[in-house]
Amino acid sequence: MKFGYFDDANKEYVIQTPKTPYPWINYLGNEQFFGLISNTAGGYSFYRDARLRRLTRYRYNNVPLDNGGRYFYVHDEGDYWTPGWMPVKRDLDFYECRHGLGYTSITGERNGLKVNQLAFVPLGFNAEVYRVKVGNVSDSPKRVSLFSYLEFCLWNAHDDMTNFQRNLSIGEVEIEDSVIYHKTEYRERRNHYAYYSVNRRIDGFDTDRDTFLGAFNGLDTPQVASEGKSGNSVASGWSPIASHGIHLELAPGEEQSLIFMLGYVENPQEEKWESLNVINKKPAKAMIEAFATDAQVNSALADLAAYWDGLLGKYSIQSSDDKLSRMVNIWNPYQCMVTFNMSRSASYFESGIGRGMGFRDSNQDLLGFVHQIPDRARERIIDIASTQFDDGGAYHQYQPLTKQGNNEVGSGFNDDPLWLITGTAAYIKETGDYGILDEDVPFDSGRQGSATLFEHLKRSFDHVTNNLGPHGLPLIGRADWNDCLNLNCFSEEPGESFQTTTNLDGKTAESVFIAGLFVFAGPDYAELARRRGLEDEATRAEREIENMRNITMAHGFDGDWFLRAYDYHGEKIGSRENEEGQIFIEPQGFCVMAGIGVEEGLAEKALNSVRDRLETDYGIMLQQPAYSKYYLNLGEISTYPPGYKENAGIFCHNNPWVTIAETVIGRGDRAFETYAKIAPAYLEDISEVHRMEPYVYSQMIAGRDAVREGEAKNSWLTGTAAWNYVAITQAILGIQPDYDGLRIDPCIPQAWDGYKITRSFRGAEYKISIQNPDHVSKGVKSVTVDGSPIESNVLPVFEAGSSHEVVVVLG
Ligand code: GLC
Ligand code: GLC
Repeated sequence: MKFGYFDDANKEYVIQTPKTPYPWINYLGNEQFFGLISNTAGGYSFYRDARLRRLTRYRYNNVPLDNGGRYFYVHDEGDYWTPGWMPVKRDLDFYECRHGLGYTSITGERNGLKVNQLAFVPLGFNAEVYRVKVGNVSDSPKRVSLFSYLEFCLWNAHDDMTNFQRNLSIGEVEIEDSVIYHKTEYRERRNHYAYYSVNRRIDGFDTDRDTFLGAFNGLDTPQVASEGKSGNSVASGWSPIASHGIHLELAPGEEQSLIFMLGYVENPQEEKWESLNVINKKPAKAMIEAFATDAQVNSALADLAAYWDGLLGKYSIQSSDDKLSRMVNIWNPYQCMVTFNMSRSASYFESGIGRGMGFRDSNQDLLGFVHQIPDRARERIIDIASTQFDDGGAYHQYQPLTKQGNNEVGSGFNDDPLWLITGTAAYIKETGDYGILDEDVPFDSGRQGSATLFEHLKRSFDHVTNNLGPHGLPLIGRADWNDCLNLNCFSEEPGESFQTTTNLDGKTAESVFIAGLFVFAGPDYAELARRRGLEDEATRAEREIENMRNITMAHGFDGDWFLRAYDYHGEKIGSRENEEGQIFIEPQGFCVMAGIGVEEGLAEKALNSVRDRLETDYGIMLQQPAYSKYYLNLGEISTYPPGYKENAGIFCHNNPWVTIAETVIGRGDRAFETYAKIAPAYLEDISEVHRMEPYVYSQMIAGRDAVREGEAKNSWLTGTAAWNYVAITQAILGIQPDYDGLRIDPCIPQAWDGYKITRSFRGAEYKISIQNPDHVSKGVKSVTVDGSPIESNVLPVFEAGSSHEVVVVLG
């Protein structure tokens, strides 16, 4: 069952009912100012950091769900309603939500009045702009009132939800003309405020939530909207809000447009005040001026569309499969950019206060957006590396506002350092910018000195070889990629964090996954060393990698698949010898991606075991059989009920590893099958089961053991976006950025006749036609560039600005 449809021409998903199975959201903003907005206009906004600079309030865990956002109440002759349906939930004669790239447009119609609210953050601008169009589609004149509404957050979202004894006394606003300024704590150390404006004279306002709502009322029945009259309240403590009241007279057929703006301003210390306790509003006024007219809004919307066309145009496919095209051309790269902006901080499942930027997550996310925004990827790599410790270890997370490692979570996740190699290598392959390796980068934000980025990569590499266990496999530390496989935790204390508790010394538990990752990432480190003329270092690294490959085959294979780990007591995990958790997905994917056991036939065995034991109609489960009880020696993984999250859920992030692994052994049909099983566009028809947005990946789909098998959770902020993007664009479609050019090496379903890709690479445009006359999965028979055959399947780097026709024949 569907709740909308893809409008590919407009690059939108169109939702046709407000009653989606869950709020289906979108993101606004690309640089500093961000918003989350649902299909019923719920959500919130923040400046740079969802925890430390929250502008509007949002109550997670609210009842009803998603109650709070950017609302426009219409009062029409005693009747009142909201165009996004929520929160008033009055029946609408027409409803539509269009989630587009960086904007959301919601339309509601009732009793001959049509209201459209469109929200976006203009490029390079620290505000959300809402253009509201009110149209009289009846044949008699109408006199209506419009009441805007949003609720301010007192900046620190965590403090705002916990420190009521103070916060209920500190709220302050100023009102001048049509603008409401939120200035809580500006009187002391803050130098920033928020404002909510509208581009016309207002007939009333409210800034005090209790006055707007009236005693005992919720957002569904605010007194101001039901009576059609603002209270002109001035907040003093309690809960500051912003609401404009505007009367409109509309002739039949007439439409009026209003422009609202929620903006953020920082003033220099010496320019904070206009006069005693009156804030300096000059910057806000200039911003409001910039969007005073519809023409200004339209031109900013056109700029936003051009920005996205530019980003998405870096890689596009022409194929006969619409679902594939919309994933590759629109939604997957779009989601990759959202994960670039948010990491795992703010979504409808991430509260914006729990997690900063993850070290491993951000490095993996990079794989999905580096070709779109190489400069910002460069900056991101430096930011991440700056939180690394001088022994190569890493803070697991850092805060985007301060760019400092997060002490509360600490370090000790032994896969973390390696991802820096993979992220940096992807950046250099894309750009050819080896200079990044010479950048001087701090350790622990300068507390432990600094060194070149190349030296950071060396420490990452050595961190593995310096921390080996009894079998010569890497020690796992607190956890590896699987945050919930906590082999040194042994927690018996309710509520204790599995990620930050280490009760045992960590000198024995080993990870086969990290071994696979080491053999996968290591060669890039060796190659970069060689390209810096460090031949001895390259050879040393290659010896270590070879050694790890052999150890993995000797001690990390269990007959038909790769083992997962050895626990604290040296017992196997992910082995046929175990009663539960006999086979795990992660080492099968990563060891084969690394090429371990491909020649020896182990890889094929491992992938067949995945197919036979882990695959379901909805994707590949993390492990089987699910853990039915808590295991002290395994940690958080065994705390989840069977079928959810890391305990045998379909943890989408690692499905693409299997897809890519299938291409390593040349099985194009299997590769595409596993890709499409979790690609959202292919799941649109089962939206009532899947329940999350059909245009983006979710972190998890409930597995076979779960009560609600096939139901997704944690949409948007997941490494799945980057990895399934790599899986489809590089491994399956076969366009692979490499150090010396663009390697073409597809691995596709045999039935495919071919497809066309346009790829920009280091400034040149490659128009590539892949033809499959013999219906093979893999193997490049011939390559011609601009009509002339070339020997290799690596397309050379061309002059920036040039465009080239490439024909690749498989066979
Ligand atoms: C979450 C984390 C990620 C981890 C994964 C598996 O997605 O953000 O870092 O690898 O869970 O536990
Ligand atoms: C929880 C989640 C896991 C996530 C981790 C991050 O353990 O279950 O998926 O990676 O938190 O801190």
